[in-house]
Amino acid sequence: MHERSPRLLRDIATAAFAVLAVAVAAYAFAYLYVDHPPHNRFAARFAVSGLDVPAHFFGAGLALLLAPLQLSTTVRRRAPRVHRLGGWLSAGGILVSGIAALSMARHTQGGAASGVALAMLAMAWLFCMGRGIQHIVNGDIAGHRRWMCRTAALSFAAVTLRLILALGVAFRLPFLPVYVFATWACWLINLAVCEAWLRHRAGRLHPSTAATLS
Ligand code: HEM
Repeated sequence: MHERSPRLLRDIATAAFAVLAVAVAAYAFAYLYVDHPPHNRFAARFAVSGLDVPAHFFGAGLALLLAPLQLSTTVRRRAPRVHRLGGWLSAGGILVSGIAALSMARHTQGGAASGVALAMLAMAWLFCMGRGIQHIVNGDIAGHRRWMCRTAALSFAAVTLRLILALGVAFRLPFLPVYVFATWACWLINLAVCEAWLRHRAGRLHPSTAATLS
């Protein structure tokens, strides 16, 4: 029973990650095809915006949709070609979406306080993805895994942000302060959890393997 608990917890966390990632990706795609009510503060501004908005939603939606597939050990082992194809597709999505996000960060709800947070997130996202690709091109699988875990944690910031906003609504807190807080917390929390998990994982491996991974 005790030995099965961590495995069960991991399975629940993996399933929750996949369901939430797909749900928020669907929400981003819906922005492209479904009309939002005029009182929606985001939709009203995006309606008069340029190409950066659809580029962001499409690229980010693709990256988030593919994240559970890319992290799956089964897919990596049994269908490495699918992993490779998914990897290049999500890298393309992140490149397009990250650059578009840098443009959108100039005019966010909440002004500079949230704009700086989202611009830093976009740069960190592009940087981690670039490092992940660099490692795999050099044949360093452990380094690739570490940087792609960080990239996925940053993609998942879109989910954490909306969970924080939902909590704000549930506790009837004013929107803008919660939004500004969420734009910082969503990626800093995810990165901290990812680093803790990477350290935990390295600690459980044989010392020589752990040294290679750290
Ligand atoms: C990880 C890096 C990301 C950055 C830097 C980023 C940046 C931004 C920015 C600057 C905005 C405009 C916010 C405003 O006007 O106040 C925005 C909105 C939005 N983003 Fe992202 N984003 C990221 C990831 C994602 C992902 C992975 C998704 C979903 C797949 C996503 C979906 C959306 C949606 C749907 C909106 C519209 C606002 C809303 O209704 O919540 N973003 N993003």
